[in-house]
Amino acid sequence: PYVVAQPCINCKHTDCVEVCPVDCFYEGPNFLVINPDECIDCNACVPVCPVEAIYADDELPEEWTHYAEWNTYLANQWQALGYNITEKKPELPQAEEWASPPQSETKNEE
Ligand code: SF4
Ligand code: F3S
Repeated sequence: PYVVAQPCINCKHTDCVEVCPVDCFYEGPNFLVINPDECIDCNACVPVCPVEAIYADDELPEEWTHYAEWNTYLANQWQALGYNITEKKPELPQAEEWASPPQSETKNEE
């Protein structure tokens, strides 16, 4: 299945939810997750995320591999609460500020 990783945190652009044919995105306060039991590996959500937050579970960057477990855990929690999201809404106001730049760009900051 596909996994939402760190770049989504504090952004929630939500373009992904509109293209998912099985509506398997769930929304928490500051990011979205994919329910791995429902995802059909269609790849439709990957190119539409403006911050490249979505990866196939076996292609997650090493520093984000734990997001696979978090997606599973949180999707179950948020599904139970009825937090399915299928329509795009405005991104969070802090999205631009949190648009995770690559590590190499942040390392040398004072
Ligand atoms: Fe939905 Fe396809 Fe993305 Fe899975 S890969 S979350 S099925 S759009
Ligand atoms: Fe998050 Fe990208 Fe979707 S920022 S809400 S994974 S479009």
